[in-house]
Amino acid sequence: MCGIFGYCNFLVERDRRFILNTLLNGLSRLEYRGYDSAGMSVDGDNGIQIYKEVGKVSALRELVESQSIDFDKTFISHSGMAHTRWATHGKPSRINSHPHRSGIDNEFTIIHNGIITNYKEIKTFLLKKDIVFETETDTEVVIKLTKYLYDSQKDISFTDLVKAVVKEVEGGFSFIFKSSRYPDELVATRRGSPLLIGVKTSQKLKVDFVDVEFSEGAERATLNDPTGTGFVDVASGTTGAPHLNRSMSRAFLSEDGSPQPIEYFLASDASAIVEHTKRVLYLEDDDIAHIGAGELHIHRLRRENDNSPISRTIETLEIELAEIMKGSFDHFMQKEIYEQPESVVNTMRGRVNFEDHKITLGGLRGYLSTIRRARRIVFIACGTSYHSCLATRAVFEELTEIPTQIELASDFLDRRSPIFRDDVCVFVSQSGETADTILAMRYCLERGALAVGITNTVGSSISRETHCGVHINAGPEIGVASTKAYTSQYIALVMMALQLSEDKLSTENRRKEIIDGLYLLPGHIKEVLATAGDLQQLSKDTLSKEKSLLIMGRGYQNATCLEGALKIKEISYMHSEGILAGELKHGPLALVDENMPVILIMTQDSLYPKVQSALQQVSARKGQPIIICNTGDDNLINDYRTIKVPKTADCLQGLINVVPLQLLSYYLAVLNGQDVDFPRNLAKSVTVE
Ligand code: F6R
Repeated sequence: MCGIFGYCNFLVERDRRFILNTLLNGLSRLEYRGYDSAGMSVDGDNGIQIYKEVGKVSALRELVESQSIDFDKTFISHSGMAHTRWATHGKPSRINSHPHRSGIDNEFTIIHNGIITNYKEIKTFLLKKDIVFETETDTEVVIKLTKYLYDSQKDISFTDLVKAVVKEVEGGFSFIFKSSRYPDELVATRRGSPLLIGVKTSQKLKVDFVDVEFSEGAERATLNDPTGTGFVDVASGTTGAPHLNRSMSRAFLSEDGSPQPIEYFLASDASAIVEHTKRVLYLEDDDIAHIGAGELHIHRLRRENDNSPISRTIETLEIELAEIMKGSFDHFMQKEIYEQPESVVNTMRGRVNFEDHKITLGGLRGYLSTIRRARRIVFIACGTSYHSCLATRAVFEELTEIPTQIELASDFLDRRSPIFRDDVCVFVSQSGETADTILAMRYCLERGALAVGITNTVGSSISRETHCGVHINAGPEIGVASTKAYTSQYIALVMMALQLSEDKLSTENRRKEIIDGLYLLPGHIKEVLATAGDLQQLSKDTLSKEKSLLIMGRGYQNATCLEGALKIKEISYMHSEGILAGELKHGPLALVDENMPVILIMTQDSLYPKVQSALQQVSARKGQPIIICNTGDDNLINDYRTIKVPKTADCLQGLINVVPLQLLSYYLAVLNGQDVDFPRNLAKSVTVE
């Protein structure tokens, strides 16, 4: 989805080249989120200058470099912001790209991630005021409204102006505002979309938190609606400018209380900040952060039932720059597939005691007895994360004996499925920011269920808003196609089932078998990775020219089939379908003939005889499946092409079987000349419904 980046320097002299490069590099770090155009807003020689271009950040860079401007001009303080757009309202074009502006003089500019749901009402209202629009976007209404409210009030601080604006806006957003009326300042706010602020100073910060400043009695103005649009004309009446209880932003002042040289970096995610500083604070929904004259103030309207903390902690990022660089790999996806022997260890580190066969998930401590007593456990997720739930459902049910349900977040919300206080709802999300999963989480929280988050992103909405949870610690996943997050989510869920069942003597041997399997897992994944050359050859010789590919299996491998097919679809654009082998004769068999490519997962578990019968059904229709089987399986006659994988505990076999499918999808995409890390129409972090 869209990526947001902002940069402010104060008492730190920077030339224009540095500022532009910092903004462009910030956007490059966010490229993986998916986008179709990019833009930025900086100080020109006469007011604000906006640059926009369709396509990659490199195209915007070329545009900027082609300008005849004084790149050496220095700024002792400056504020700039930049944006990558993933089109939702209006096609990708220069005009629809962000930043959007209040008018041709660029007096107010805005960048936005998310969707404004009441933009039509606001637009109708503003059109009646003869305000002219130039784009097809929802975002433009926000900046036109900003200007309108400014003109109606004039003597208003930047923060209060943005406050008045966001009170009228519905939907999900993170915004950054820049205005020539408030030079060198930025105001940022969020509701539902992530936003964090990095702080860089040469001196140590005095305290590691920022106080939240509340204003009293500034609820949304309830004026008449003379327009009949349903939109309230705030500007035509008195809003009563909010009175702020200003406390100082103590963290950023020097010993004598004066502001110190400082730089701020604002971004949709940490990967754009970590190269500058590791000191960050995460904004909460409805926070309004104001940066100006070297200070950062965080404001909120005091609302009843506002349970958010009264300060924002300045945290230290755990990620390293190297983790978000490709290194010697051609693509992030490839790097992430190859990281799995290590990332699965990181997921288990400090949590699995392989000698005592014990699991300790610190994040669930204190909640285990509640979870064990649950009426049912409902797993809710999207895409690959959903597949990790599907892959572990059987072992969860087997070990915990708690009824288990799994839900695609969007469908769960569409159905408004009943949720009760004694339900435990588990939200699985790599990013922790997927809009559907967040909405489902809030839906369940409202109904009193215990919410457990399984995410890869510390500080994400899901990790903050759930009662408890597990971080999968797979490290940043940049490739749009999720790979290492899948295997780590899978392990996190297996660990959760193991811990929940630790008091059951009847499961002791089974738990030992699984924990021993986890111990051997990194080596098993390495064995599969060592066959990458064969898989590349197979893709080239057999699959790369095909239009379609069916992947079949059953039991534990149903999820592997769906996940493999999703990987192939999303990055190689080849049609692929995961088929539950038990359903073959109920329809899909009609697709099978000598020309239909099929992969059959036939590793040895209790369903092996049933999958053999599926093999016969396919072979009888002249199908020539490629078989994923265990090394040393001598039941298979030599006629079949095989992909051999090491054998492990049945419930962990999917962790190994998925790896050749990840590699096949990768090679198919490369062979077909696709942009592996940035598949068309997709975004890494789906922050819109
Ligand atoms: C597929 C993929 C997506 C995500 C889905 C959920 O490779 O990456 O299907 O799994 O969009 O995203 P998260 O896990 O961030 O909630």
